Amino acid sequence: MGFRVLLMFNLLLILFLSNLSIKASSLRKIRESVIRLPNGDSYGHPFDPTRVTQISWHPRAFLYRNFLTDQECDHFIQLAKDKLEKSMVADNESGKSIESEVRTSSGMFLNKAQDEVVAGVEARISAWTFLPVENGESMQILHYENGQKYEPHWDYFHDKANQALGGHRIATVLMYLSNVQKGGETVFPESEIKESQPKANEDWSECAKKGYAVKPKKGDALLFFSLHPNATTDVLSLHGSCPVIEGEKWSATKWIHVRNFDKPDDTSDECKDENVNCATWAASGECIKNPVYMVGSAEGLGYCRKSCKVC
Ligand SMILES: *[C@@H]1O[C@H](CO)[C@@H](O)[C@H](O)[C@H]1NC(C)=O
Ligand SMILES: *[C@@H]1O[C@H](CO)[C@@H](O)[C@H](O)[C@H]1NC(C)=O
Repeated sequence: MGFRVLLMFNLLLILFLSNLSIKASSLRKIRESVIRLPNGDSYGHPFDPTRVTQISWHPRAFLYRNFLTDQECDHFIQLAKDKLEKSMVADNESGKSIESEVRTSSGMFLNKAQDEVVAGVEARISAWTFLPVENGESMQILHYENGQKYEPHWDYFHDKANQALGGHRIATVLMYLSNVQKGGETVFPESEIKESQPKANEDWSECAKKGYAVKPKKGDALLFFSLHPNATTDVLSLHGSCPVIEGEKWSATKWIHVRNFDKPDDTSDECKDENVNCATWAASGECIKNPVYMVGSAEGLGYCRKSCKVC
C-alpha cells in the first residue's frame, strides 16, 4: 500500500516536473522568431529556392537569380538616395568607424522592417539562409559611382567591440539593385575555383579576373559565409567590390550574426542560476513550492532554472 502511494506520488511529481519543463521550453520559443516561407509577400514574389546555384564551396557562396523584383530594387534606391553618406570601415584594433581609401562608396542604413517591402525582403532572406531575422543587421544600401570600389576584405571583425552585439557575422547576403555596364563585379580573390571560371568570352574588368567574380545583375542576390560550419573564421571569404568602370552600382547588404543583433545577449537563455542560493533552495523543494520565481512563468524565465533542472 505504502509502496503504491509512493509510486503514485512519484508519477504525479514526474508529470508536474515535465509540465514545468514543457512550459519553460515553450517560453523560450516565444522569444525567438519562427522562420516562415513567405509564399507571396508584398509584391507577390514567391520564395523559390530552385533559383539558387552554388558558385563556390571554399568559400561557401551561392547565387539566387531574381531574388528581388525590379520594384523592390527601385524602392530600396528611392529610400536611400537622399540619405547617402561616405562609407566607413571598422578600425582593426578599436572597432571604431573610420574613413578609408579601401572603401570609396557612399551608403546608408535602412531601419529593420521600416516598411512592408523591407520586412518582406528580410523575411525572404531569413527563409533562404535559415537564419533568424533578429540575427540580421539592418540593411545597408550602397552606391558606387565611376571608379568607386571596396578593396578585398572580410566581413567578420577582428575587434571585440563589434562582436559585443550578436557575436561574429556568420553570413552576408549581397543584393544587386542595378545593372552595371562595366566593372563593379563582386570578386573572391581566394576562391579555390577562381582559375576554373571562364573569363574569355565575357566582358570582365581586370579586377574581376583576379578571383572568382560575380557580375552585378539587378535583382540577383549573393549569399556567402564568413564562418566555417565549425564557427571559425573562413579566410577564403575575402571579397571585394571591383571599381565601377561604366554606369553606376547600387547594392543592398544584409549582414547576419551568430546571435540576436536586436538586443544584447539574452544570457537567461544559457542554462544557469541567477542566485547563489539556487542549489540550496532547489534541494529544499522550492522548485515545486515556488515555481514562478524558481522556474518561471509565461511572463518570463525564473532565476534557478539550472538547479531546478529545466534547462
Ligand atoms: C586587420 O587584422 C588582420 C588580422 O590581424 C589582418 O590580417 C588584416 O590585414 C588587418 N587589416 C587591416 C586593414 O589592417
Ligand atoms: C574548422 O574548419 C575548417 C574548415 O574545414 C578547418 O580548416 C579548421 O581546421 C577547423 N578548425 C577547428 C578548430 O576545428
